[in-house]
Amino acid sequence: MCGIIGYSGTGNDVQEVLLTGLSGLEYRGYDSAGFAISNGSLAVHKREGDVSGLEAEVPASNHDGLAGIGHTRWSTHGPPSDENAHPHTDCESRVAVVHNGIIENYQALRTELSTAGHEFESDTDTEVIPHLIESALENGATPDQAFRQAVDRLEGSYAVAAVFQADETIYVARNESPLVLGVGDDGHYLASDVPAFLEYTDRVIYLEDGQFARVSPSGIVVTDEQGAVIDTAIDTVDWDPEDAGKSGYDHYMLKEIHEQPTALRKCLRERVSELENTITVDELSSLESTGPIQFVACGTSYHAALYGARLLRENGRSAQCFLASEYDARSIPITDETLVVGVTQSGETADTMSALRAANQAGATTLALTNVVGSSAARECDHVMYIRAGPEIGVAATKTFVSQQAALAMLSGVLSNGDSPTLIKDLRGLPDKLQHVLDESTAQAVATEFVDADAYFFIGRGYNAPVALEGALKMKEITYKHAEGFAAGELKHGPLALVTERTPVFAVVTGTDAAKTIGNIKEVEARGAPVIAVTDSPEAVGQYASHVLAVPDAGPYLTPILANVQLQLVSYWVANQLDRSIDKPRNLAKSVTVE
Ligand code: G6P
Repeated sequence: MCGIIGYSGTGNDVQEVLLTGLSGLEYRGYDSAGFAISNGSLAVHKREGDVSGLEAEVPASNHDGLAGIGHTRWSTHGPPSDENAHPHTDCESRVAVVHNGIIENYQALRTELSTAGHEFESDTDTEVIPHLIESALENGATPDQAFRQAVDRLEGSYAVAAVFQADETIYVARNESPLVLGVGDDGHYLASDVPAFLEYTDRVIYLEDGQFARVSPSGIVVTDEQGAVIDTAIDTVDWDPEDAGKSGYDHYMLKEIHEQPTALRKCLRERVSELENTITVDELSSLESTGPIQFVACGTSYHAALYGARLLRENGRSAQCFLASEYDARSIPITDETLVVGVTQSGETADTMSALRAANQAGATTLALTNVVGSSAARECDHVMYIRAGPEIGVAATKTFVSQQAALAMLSGVLSNGDSPTLIKDLRGLPDKLQHVLDESTAQAVATEFVDADAYFFIGRGYNAPVALEGALKMKEITYKHAEGFAAGELKHGPLALVTERTPVFAVVTGTDAAKTIGNIKEVEARGAPVIAVTDSPEAVGQYASHVLAVPDAGPYLTPILANVQLQLVSYWVANQLDRSIDKPRNLAKSVTVE
């Protein structure tokens, strides 16, 4: 939540770097945006609304500055407004600050600073930071000392960056909120996430919690809490700048749906060998697990985790799945035999991180299944498995869900020591079958027919139950229409009361439990609701449905992954016809770093 960008250098126009970075970060929040450039004084531009509005308002000029910071906001303290937009400044506009996270003791700090005569202009927790800096400057501190003293007073989570007037250094600190630094030939960068500056450099330094950094045209100096300089490694990310663009698609979401075959191939590469009949995940070579397995996750990742837990149970392992926000280490048996797997594409979701930290404290072994190298989950867990989906910008998760499912299928093979020839063969064939779904899908026509429906229901059983939940979540997120997903058998225990001829029901029918789900379809049809069957047996199942979205048979464990793709497309086309803000749905953010 909230995106931060910063640049200090001579090679590029600072304002251009900031605006480009902010556009790339809008998936983290988009209710207001702003930036500050140090050029003798501080030039600050900020406003409610998205980055394009800010861009249209500011002169296309070069501010002649060498350093600047920018921010795109997902509001927590105070509604979206010009005043609450970042950057925030002190009383004399000597320093400008952007922040992502929550300052838990801001109320006490604000009272203390107000009593000392500081005047506040916003409702935000962030605004205490520039005033704390100001007070330290007034006591004779240098900018570096003032920044450190201010950060020392903060409790909570923060990625924070400050620029001072007439100073080309950007001062940075991090604690439990993401922040990555970029090393370029003509300057240095900081951002909440790599795609924000990927166009300029792919060389990065991952800042750790508790570390500070000074980012200037000549270099980056990372220090610890005491100010001692730390030697940091520079990593190279293998994401292509093109991956972070729209490549001619109208929306990131549609582009990312179409990238799924490639994402899958990258996820499987060098891990699944049909020749040797093995699944090998190098990152997990030192992972030993014989005890219970617990998954923690939120949103779409939770649906992937449900799928993974089921696979493991079918392979003879004890596996449970928890919503991360409901994972209460006091009431759940956790021992040093327990493996807790955090499924999180961003690796930053606060609820998931909090569950993983609780598991770590309780002595469990932790594993992060994530897309983002160097993310909090990757760094804080004992083990990490990357899903390798590449950057996902659309707020609604699509390719990361598919890659999570494929990664979980591989994880289940690794953890159950049962390299299954069928699963291995099916995994190898999956990318081509997914491409076939994309090429042949009639989801757009289905969407057109049902765009005016009152509500949408999704049912499926077994491995298709998480697909039904995910289908409904996608529909809600991007169309703002009422949608619910159910395990097919549960429909008759209540939700059936909502079914009418104006509520299409998407029935995901694949695999061995088809007969039972067909029974549920009949219950729905008897109430006059149109049924859209998503199935690998169009002939057998089609006769019970008004419409069919066909998928190839990819085996009992993987066909549900293909069914989900049809549902992604239906949601996309319904949202498209309703002219919704598909990539940035109202009220949502991609990376939710508050509990
Ligand atoms: C947010 C996003 C969802 C996502 C969830 C978990 O709510 O809008 O799309 O599924 O966070 O995110 P994670 O990064 O942990 O997978």
